[in-house]
Amino acid sequence: AEGGDPAITELKDWNSYLGEGVVARPYGTPSSFEAGVVRRDVPWLTADATSSVSFTPLHDLDGIITPNGLCFERHHAGIAEIPPDEHRLMINGLVDRPLVFTMDDLKRFPRENRVYFLECAANSGMEWRGAQLNGCQFTHGMIHCVMYTGTPLRYLLEEAGVKTAGKWLLAEGADASAMTRSIPMEKALDDCLVAWKMNGEALRPEQGYPVRLVVPGWEGNMWVKWLRRLEVGDQPWEHREETSKYTDLLASGKARKFTWGMEVKSVITNPSPQAPITHGKGRTVVTGLAWSGNGRIDRVDVTLDGGRNWHEARIDGPSLPMALHRFYYDFEWDGSQLLLQSRAVDDRGFVQPTKNELRAARGDNSIYHNNGIQTWLLTADGGLENVEVS
Ligand code: MTE
Ligand code: CO
Repeated sequence: AEGGDPAITELKDWNSYLGEGVVARPYGTPSSFEAGVVRRDVPWLTADATSSVSFTPLHDLDGIITPNGLCFERHHAGIAEIPPDEHRLMINGLVDRPLVFTMDDLKRFPRENRVYFLECAANSGMEWRGAQLNGCQFTHGMIHCVMYTGTPLRYLLEEAGVKTAGKWLLAEGADASAMTRSIPMEKALDDCLVAWKMNGEALRPEQGYPVRLVVPGWEGNMWVKWLRRLEVGDQPWEHREETSKYTDLLASGKARKFTWGMEVKSVITNPSPQAPITHGKGRTVVTGLAWSGNGRIDRVDVTLDGGRNWHEARIDGPSLPMALHRFYYDFEWDGSQLLLQSRAVDDRGFVQPTKNELRAARGDNSIYHNNGIQTWLLTADGGLENVEVS
């Protein structure tokens, strides 16, 4: 341009004056220019904010780790604010020694660090009967992926001594909902964690401070927050969250129960309705997330024409079991209208289904476990819309 680019040629305040010194923000906060990067809710979804959900802004993130302040929240009775020194975790029921742990007690057990996604079973639930919410934050944002630090649940159960009749575990939260879920003992002894750190820092209050259960690959509802009690029993408890809720009503009128595992799934996060293409045609990066409760993601394919032709995407970053995977597909956009989709395959060979395949198998009464392929319509102006192809 005539006279040069003012972004280069003009002297700016930040070139001319000293900036703030160290510890201006003792606990750092994002740049003020990132003020639009926030969790959001959909007020008409729930009657009240205390039994509700907020959504992770997936379209604003990259890599595989969700920053703690952006992890979606799902509370049945608001956020419990628990002083850690007043918190206790009890193990009772079919055990040799009923035990009560303080937070200090828990921190003396051997620790492990593991990265896992947590997906609410209701993620994408509003999309069962057709395209509804315009943005991946709302269609797919009931998911986060962080590194947990905690002790394997197995160590605590070994300390208590599970009796041979003890085949099930009831996990109970200390919040006003006293959330409870039955977990089979094999899973409890396999890979569950009792965790008190996320991404290196203390759990956020929203995520269950001071301690939560981590149930890798399984629906978020089982990851009891503010964990206060573990009861060992010989059968499942059939509580509200595993009978009236978190069951899947099929077309036959029968309901599937104990559908714990989160199946293989993916979504394109950019471009997407909240993140349109503003650069016009030419070099374009398509990116998104893929995950499976079965293990690792083996492959992600991307289509630009609603599923006629598929192209293998590039997975970049760590490929960890039951964690988010980041994929990229780099291409030259010719400026024409496209139908963008991604399809993931996990290391057990499961392939993400189309929404029609899913509805053929499960009917359309469901809320939970929608892992169908998402379609974004990209129009010539760079805008995107949530649509379905038949
Ligand atoms: N645990 C307690 N105690 N109370 C709750 O309301 N909500 C559950 C689960 N654990 C809940 C809970 C549900 S439905 C989900 S999806 C996850 O927590 C959400 O975890 P997050 O808030 O860390 O995203
Ligand atoms: Co949930």
